[in-house]
Amino acid sequence: MRLAVFASGNGSNFSAIQEAILSKELSADIACVICDQKDAGIYQRAKDAGIPIYYFDIKTFSSKKEYEKAIIAQLDKEMVELIILAGYMRIVGSTLLEAFPKRILNIHPSYLPAFPGKQGIRDAFEAGVDQTGVTIHIVDEGVDSGPILAQEKLPILSTDSLATLEAKIHGIEHRLYSKTIQDYINQLKTRRTYDTSIN
Ligand code: GRF
Repeated sequence: MRLAVFASGNGSNFSAIQEAILSKELSADIACVICDQKDAGIYQRAKDAGIPIYYFDIKTFSSKKEYEKAIIAQLDKEMVELIILAGYMRIVGSTLLEAFPKRILNIHPSYLPAFPGKQGIRDAFEAGVDQTGVTIHIVDEGVDSGPILAQEKLPILSTDSLATLEAKIHGIEHRLYSKTIQDYINQLKTRRTYDTSIN
């Protein structure tokens, strides 16, 4: 299964997925990385891993539709079958969703539906709740909505700082995303072709 990882930032989830592939825990290949931020840390990570990374600046396109059409053209060249959002800080538009129906996964650093949005870890920490978590879901037209594939809870301890909480969340993410991607690939492969809900 040929994956494209979409990222806007640090890229630690990209690295965890790539490590899972190298250790054969995940049977897939990262065909390319798509990035919308020029100075993102993901650049060096992709370079070090020898994986092509393509930068798309939405400001240079006349519309989001044109931006996504350009990305789709690149994904087609790379024969991408499944898109993995990993810190892609942009809402996926209908053009991309229609080109990859039920083929876009996202990871979110909270136990959805609690704390959607850009700052899931900080929002949970500042709300003073006693637990949060990680969610992996299929992307639909909403923000951090869509069918949930996997979730894991994490207690927030009175001794936690925002930094320790972030580290624990990322630790869960790095383990859970690869496993869930593998489960989803298995599910895609075992679906009968007349089941149109996924294929
Ligand atoms: C992760 O916390 C992920 O849940 C969220 O963005 C962050 C990306 O981290 N969507 P990284 O760039 O993979 O290190």
